Amino acid sequence: MKGANLLEVKELAVQYGPIQALKGVSLSVKEGEIVALLGANGAGKTTLLQTVSGLLKPTRGHVFYEGKEITGQEAEKVVGSHLVHVPEHRQVFSTMTVLDNLYLGAYHHRKKSKR
Ligand SMILES: Nc1ncnc2c1ncn2[C@@H]1O[C@H](COP(=O)(O)OP(=O)(O)OP(=O)(O)O)[C@@H](O)[C@H]1O
Ligand SMILES: [Mg+2]
Repeated sequence: MKGANLLEVKELAVQYGPIQALKGVSLSVKEGEIVALLGANGAGKTTLLQTVSGLLKPTRGHVFYEGKEITGQEAEKVVGSHLVHVPEHRQVFSTMTVLDNLYLGAYHHRKKSKR
């Protein structure tokens, strides 16, 4: 649906033991929109993305994808709903281009998408 939120994060909080890494983060991404998350080292960008992808569990807050709540879902279930996290650093395929690494995120769609 045009104009609808594809991804919505509401008041997300995440802790690593006693360390509170996220303290109530909210953002939304609409269909067709590209959103960049900027922040200093240690600001919590990776923590936020890993929580959206189900790799970390939040202590508070909600994540919605295509209008359905996916908060705390296991990562494999999140990937199954086509919300894909392309990692950074040494977890990418270094002999491939950035674009081809991003295309890999579509492997779940491979029957539907041409590439
Ligand atoms: N596994 C962990 N255990 C404990 N604290 C952690 C862990 N991972 C991250 N943190 C802490 O959580 C906070 C957010 O870190 P995070 O890695 O999400 O930041 P970032 O914005 O991705 O930083 P960078 O730009 O360096 O990648 C930091 O204070 C960091 O030290
Ligand atoms: Mg990071």
